Amino acid sequence: MRVLLTGSSGWLGRFLAPRLRAAAHVVVGLDVAPGADTDLVGSVADRALVQRAFAEHGVEAVIHTGALHKPDIARYPKQAFVDVNVTGTLNLLEAAVAARHDRFIFTSTTSLMISEAIRAGKTGGATRAAWLDETFGPLEPRNIYGVTKRAAEQLCALFHREHGLATVSLRTGRFFPEEDDTHRDLSGENIKANEFLGRRLTVEDAAEAHLVALEKAPSIGGETFILSAPPPFDPSEAEALLHDSPSVVARHFPTAVELYARRGWRLPGHIDRIYDPSRAERLMGFRCRTDFAAVLRALEADAPLPFAHDPSYVSPKENREIERC
Ligand SMILES: NC(=O)c1ccc[n+]([C@@H]2O[C@H](COP(=O)([O-])OP(=O)(O)OC[C@H]3O[C@@H](n4cnc5c(N)ncnc54)[C@H](O)[C@@H]3O)[C@@H](O)[C@H]2O)c1
Repeated sequence: MRVLLTGSSGWLGRFLAPRLRAAAHVVVGLDVAPGADTDLVGSVADRALVQRAFAEHGVEAVIHTGALHKPDIARYPKQAFVDVNVTGTLNLLEAAVAARHDRFIFTSTTSLMISEAIRAGKTGGATRAAWLDETFGPLEPRNIYGVTKRAAEQLCALFHREHGLATVSLRTGRFFPEEDDTHRDLSGENIKANEFLGRRLTVEDAAEAHLVALEKAPSIGGETFILSAPPPFDPSEAEALLHDSPSVVARHFPTAVELYARRGWRLPGHIDRIYDPSRAERLMGFRCRTDFAAVLRALEADAPLPFAHDPSYVSPKENREIERC
């Protein structure tokens, strides 16, 4: 298919574009920042540009990954989030319906499931780790990123109901390569490794899930899926995870403490949330290849870690701003 890939210059986009081509799709990249896989430089918020992209490139399906996201909260006003994440998604959905597309893939985020209360965890009075699947609600996104991603998900659902467009919203867990912008008590690699226990996936797995969603959308349209590495835990362990996660981890992975100690790493003292990706496996047949066990195997073999860590990564649109200055 000829696929319009928004966010084609971004971290996910640069893995997804070649993956789509390898599966015999033709990629038409659209991004505000130039990039190797970007054919059209401009904003999804520009309705005329989106219409031109459809008219001139014979687009047959959309994968919409372009967005302002969490680190952008510090850089952009709320209006920019509404323009890009909500209006931009609406522009693409309307163009897709006008072009009689049968599928539309939207990159959403697990972040929209996190209220202030869940984020506060133990200090907010939680007694167990939050076990988050697609039935979890009511959703109370805690910032403009989550609010606008949730609105975009709802636009996708609306277009499915009103027009029969097979939309798939992928609530993706963490896959960013840069340092965490809030937690700094452990090294970046240690934090990322820990997150494979319940809230991270590799960017390669994220890209693969988008390809699977594109191919399966007509039979599963109108759906939302959580994407994250399969957690090794069971909901019955949620209480212990919040209070003493190293013991729970050691029960599942007896070698973890020793392998971590060799690197000077620490297991998380408590885990306050687990994203459950089992629905994606059941309905879409997608399961992440890389999980926490794979991280331990790499530690054991002294092999390269199976995930990307790049503290110097900056979203290409920010480099563009720097170049302009
Ligand atoms: N990185 C993560 O851990 C993570 C987690 C969950 C969801 N997501 C979602 O994944 C998607 C990709 O994120 P990423 O990590 O690759 O970030 P990124 O910043 O590297 O890529 C996003 C791309 O979108 C482009 N973009 C921004 N505004 C645009 C606009 N108005 N029109 C067209 N393109 C625009 C940017 O230039 C950038 O190239 C986003 O939708 C993000 O919300 C990311």
